[in-house]
Amino acid sequence: MPVRLARPPFTPSALQVWAVEDTSIQLTWGSLPAGPIRVSAQDRTVEIEHTGGPGEFTLSGLSPATDYRVHVDHRAGTRTLEARTLATPPGALLSRVATVSDLHIGSRRWGFLKTMVETEPFDTPFPVRCARAAIGEAIAWGAELIMIKGDAVNHRSPHNFAELGRLVDLFPDTPMLLVPGNHDVDFQHSTMELPATVGERALPFTTTVVHLDVPGLRVIAGDTSIPGQGPGTLARTGEAMIQTAAEADRPALVGVHHHFDRLSRPTHWPPGIPKAEAKPFFDDLRRGNPDVLVTSGHSHRNRARRHQGVAVTEVASTRDWPGVWAGYAVHEGGIRQVVRRVAAADAVVWHEYSRGAVLGAWEHWAPGPLAQRSLAINWSTDS
Ligand SMILES: [Fe+2]
Ligand SMILES: [Fe+2]
Repeated sequence: MPVRLARPPFTPSALQVWAVEDTSIQLTWGSLPAGPIRVSAQDRTVEIEHTGGPGEFTLSGLSPATDYRVHVDHRAGTRTLEARTLATPPGALLSRVATVSDLHIGSRRWGFLKTMVETEPFDTPFPVRCARAAIGEAIAWGAELIMIKGDAVNHRSPHNFAELGRLVDLFPDTPMLLVPGNHDVDFQHSTMELPATVGERALPFTTTVVHLDVPGLRVIAGDTSIPGQGPGTLARTGEAMIQTAAEADRPALVGVHHHFDRLSRPTHWPPGIPKAEAKPFFDDLRRGNPDVLVTSGHSHRNRARRHQGVAVTEVASTRDWPGVWAGYAVHEGGIRQVVRRVAAADAVVWHEYSRGAVLGAWEHWAPGPLAQRSLAINWSTDS
């Protein structure tokens, strides 16, 4: 069913290089006319048939660490984009895992004043369509493990947790880790306890620290939520995350919900984990295991930085612009992160609309620079 949204018209996103991996480039656009689109880069040329409106295309078969000029020809004209593929980390590819965050299952509105809605909704609400597409596309990319790192539901309620359960049951064969965010433990509509598990598959909500090992990587999930509060804390689980990473015989990916505030006073909404807690955490984490990547959600934006050599990333929401999931390709000598936009058309139509939030500021705030979304780390030598 075609969707009609509450505040048209909105500005579609530009044709752009959204993601790079070592051998591929993901192009996305908010609106291109129907008809053939020809994408070429050096000796690679691919033609696709576009039905019009938003879309994405991934050009694969490229060479690592190479500068490309990507020519996109379509009915309305030609654009040339420039991109450099990532270097492949040293050694064999051992495994792939992925994270999603801020699914906000159960939400029906979006924007600073919560005025953005689907006035003629699809049969499936937009948070479920977006999360379903993100998880499915991450698995199709090759992820053998999915971590859901918080704000899985919009407010705690039996209905929302049941909807979350139906979502995770769509992927019964994929191991998952699930940690709560502040929205999973809020008191806005209910004082019910956080359920121990969700879905027929009985996926546990982690309220401590858990880990799963895959070839080349220990994946650690820690609960940083405080019931009834927005910000996060490491007080309950920080030590256990440090110990779990230190005991690993391999590098570690640490996933939490709340981002780590860089300054003593938060400089943007929402507040995350206080700097006073974050700094000693990173220091001890690195002392215990020098090869660690820490990633969070909560801020609904993409960013990356280093703290004393520890790589720290924030990954945006599946539900709102730009609508993403993060893939991690694990090599013997390093790891690649790629933040990919969801491709499914019934999700992208909402993502494109949702970029108009906060008087249009959201379209600039949430994406972050390409270099902070797609990055490669060589263990021990530069982590
Ligand atoms: Fe969130
Ligand atoms: Fe959050």
